Amino acid sequence: MSAVVNSPHARDVKSILHPMTNPKKHEQDGPLILEEGRGIYVKDTEGNEYIEGMAGLWSTSLGFSNERLLKAATEQMRKLPTYHTFFHRSNMPAIDLAEKLLEIAPVPMSKVWFANSGSEANDHVIKFVWYYNNALGRPEKKKIIARDGGYHGIAISSGSLTGLPIFHKGFDLPIKNILHTGSHHHYRYGYEGETEEDFSTRRAAELEQQIIEEGPDTVAAFIAEPVMGAGGAVLPPKGYFQKIQAVLKKYDILFIADEVICGFGRTGNMFATETYDLKPDMMTMAKALSSAYLPISAVLINDEVFQTISANSNKVGVFGHGFTYSGHPVAAAVALETLKLYEERDIIGHVRNVSGRFQDRINSYMDHSFVGETRAIGLIGAVQMSKDKSSRTNFDPSDGVAPFIVARAQEHGLIIRPLPNDSVAFCPPLIITEREIDDMFDRFEKALADCEVMIRDRLGLAA
Ligand SMILES: Cc1ncc(COP(=O)(O)O)c(C=O)c1O
Repeated sequence: MSAVVNSPHARDVKSILHPMTNPKKHEQDGPLILEEGRGIYVKDTEGNEYIEGMAGLWSTSLGFSNERLLKAATEQMRKLPTYHTFFHRSNMPAIDLAEKLLEIAPVPMSKVWFANSGSEANDHVIKFVWYYNNALGRPEKKKIIARDGGYHGIAISSGSLTGLPIFHKGFDLPIKNILHTGSHHHYRYGYEGETEEDFSTRRAAELEQQIIEEGPDTVAAFIAEPVMGAGGAVLPPKGYFQKIQAVLKKYDILFIADEVICGFGRTGNMFATETYDLKPDMMTMAKALSSAYLPISAVLINDEVFQTISANSNKVGVFGHGFTYSGHPVAAAVALETLKLYEERDIIGHVRNVSGRFQDRINSYMDHSFVGETRAIGLIGAVQMSKDKSSRTNFDPSDGVAPFIVARAQEHGLIIRPLPNDSVAFCPPLIITEREIDDMFDRFEKALADCEVMIRDRLGLAA
């Protein structure tokens, strides 16, 4: 790290507690300070340019220099820079955006609830589920089942939904009434010789057993990311959601699709709900809703949920819920412009056109001696490193294989992200071209080659 007193690096270390960062390591290494962005590229304060292979945090779908979004924000800033939506107040961007979201929703939805982040959207959805069941006179039906390996945010309740230990340890999470069931990752959890379809059947049977043991009258909802993001960019195995949804239906359990990463084209459809034929009662979305230019998220609820919430609120006088920034006009204006741009630029068509190249490049790494699995759909994917391919043995976390690749990739001008169990994720801006996809993977290959040398020299394993 630059030792210059009062350098931006030193000032950062002195003043910021960073998310998902080891604070002690940060004191030694300092930050990578990004200063500019253009298309799929970002530049740091030292003038180094990187391909942003993760679209930031799975979010900047339109890249880093979209003038239309800038214009939408500044025009709305001039007109009405802020206003709330409490007490029957509203604003035009929020109305237009809500209408548009209901129009493109993949299943019939009745109302849009606005918040500011994915964590908040998932927190709110929990409150809606609880409120709904109280309104129906079912105060016992409160438990929500999420999955091991799932990620739904970090607030107290959305962090409880998250099924990754690092987000619970030391934080006294998960809270009461939040349960977890097995991950949908067939490669990691499938038995020897078990097909994807059989694994899905087993997972659905395990879920049913869990519901029976808990008592169906106590289980209110099930939440899932169609493609697990932070848990490893893991695609659902064949038949998984069909079998899971049948169980939920049988026990009158609401299904919530967390589309925070998958929504708005990532899997080659506007929503992964279409890709995997889901029938959610509620959906949460954020990130690419505004290409992450401003914080905004949304919860879509179906009419049955809305009517129940509405009737009960009428009885007590008001729906006692809301944030100062729910339906913020500037964030809504930027989101609306983002959705317009998706249509004008046929982003879905573009993703479908280039995703073949993306998937071919990722899948080509299956030939590599230390790659156990590759996963890809649309423009999201991962390369899973493995110590021994045939037995699917993971490297020891202390070997630091995925972090090593990611650090080397950065040296080669590519920002990507390590995920649990030595996966490396790719989730570039949706505007990426085929040539840029090649450039991205060419840089990755250099890092993979460096890793092979490290594995041989440091860990003493032969390719
Ligand atoms: C699937 C999913 N849900 C929820 C969240 C939480 O979103 P936020 O970081 O905006 O709170 C994330 C964040 O990465 C996510 O990937």
